[in-house]
Amino acid sequence: MGIQANPHKTTGFLGWIDDRFPLTKMWKDHISEYYAPKNFNFWYYFGGLAMLVLVNQLLTGIFLTMHYKPDATLAFGSVEYIMRDVPWGDLIRYMHSTGASAFFVVVYLHMFRALLYGSYRKPRELIWIFGCLIYVALMAEAFMGYVLPWGQMSYWGAQVIISLFGAIPVIGPDLVVWIQGDYVPSDATLNRLFSLHVVAVPFVLVGLVVAHIMALHEVGSNNPDGIEIKENKDENGIPKDGIPFHPYYTVKDIMGAVFFMILFSVVVFFVPEGGGYFIEAPNFVEANPSVTPDHIAPVWYFAHFYAMLRAVPDKLLGVIVMFGAVFILFAMPWLDRSDAKSIRYKGTPYKVSLALFTAACLLLFKLGTEPTTASKIIQARVGTIIYFAFFISLPWVSRMGTQKPVPERLTDGH
Ligand code: HEM
Repeated sequence: MGIQANPHKTTGFLGWIDDRFPLTKMWKDHISEYYAPKNFNFWYYFGGLAMLVLVNQLLTGIFLTMHYKPDATLAFGSVEYIMRDVPWGDLIRYMHSTGASAFFVVVYLHMFRALLYGSYRKPRELIWIFGCLIYVALMAEAFMGYVLPWGQMSYWGAQVIISLFGAIPVIGPDLVVWIQGDYVPSDATLNRLFSLHVVAVPFVLVGLVVAHIMALHEVGSNNPDGIEIKENKDENGIPKDGIPFHPYYTVKDIMGAVFFMILFSVVVFFVPEGGGYFIEAPNFVEANPSVTPDHIAPVWYFAHFYAMLRAVPDKLLGVIVMFGAVFILFAMPWLDRSDAKSIRYKGTPYKVSLALFTAACLLLFKLGTEPTTASKIIQARVGTIIYFAFFISLPWVSRMGTQKPVPERLTDGH
């Protein structure tokens, strides 16, 4: 006899659990009776893949932490030890370091999808805001992780990034000492970055991902047509254009995950350092505070921001531009004023603007990893202007041109 007969009519052990914990309810609400639009396409793989990569990072991170030594005199050696002596250590390390780059590939494609289909628009503003917070946390996590092997690029990268806070008027110089716990990056810095990388930020990330999904399931998924499927329900209250997430999208996502894992394995097995893009060559040399590497460059996924920083002659202004480039993303839901959510029904000016923005980002990614020249600085300035112009002009550009009428029901996926 249950404490209170559960509405799912489950019996046996599951019934016993359901009387005490909403297991079947959660399964139904979020998986077997979560109705998703039936026209999800290629772009809808990346949220699930981001979760997969998050799990990869957490699991491989646990094993790395078992052998890594957060001590400025031992850290580099302990990573070499993991690579050479710990059984499967090289695989675990490369799954983690290459996983960081995979994370950003997947997340950038995931964000781009939102720009294509207006997934940030009402009522999904909070999904987007949580996403932006995830992105900020992910960048902090990746930066701190890169410092841990205490190679040359770890050290000098940390030096460059932390010293940016020194550009803040009045408190800047003290702030840098406070962040580093020393006058230069040192053992104290390494210890605190280790603690934040391994404990604090992963907690924040997981919490934000849960909030992201809760917000998504509260309002329901958007789709390539940008139509609200909840506005067309059948007599049972089920969206006519919706299909249960399980089995339809669990199967589809498993197929995407298998493809992804094949690709990821090929990279991890054959080009784990990504030709210097995932781990730069100077990071195979131990940190030396008295020798600066010839060319300090961030890993590719930060390179566009770094290119912007270098494009601006004034340090403080450069820092403002760089942080502004991240924080302007938060405003997206309120900048886009078109009637249609999806690019399929938006006017040509938005399409051109998004194409230019994408090209500018790609250019900045490239420039940020290369040594500067006068002509590259000009290119980076042009790229930076296009980047910001996309957001600033959006309230107008999103309403310009002829918008196509948005249909009531989904147009594909039948
Ligand atoms: C760890 C990182 C992240 C994880 C694990 C994650 C996970 C997910 C998942 C599983 C979905 C539903 C499936 C899908 O639509 O692909 C989703 C949807 C969404 N995510 Fe993320 N996400 C992450 C980061 C981000 C970021 C950085 C942004 C934007 C700044 C973002 C914006 C969105 C939006 C707007 C949706 C709704 C899409 C729609 O319904 O069309 N996410 N996310």
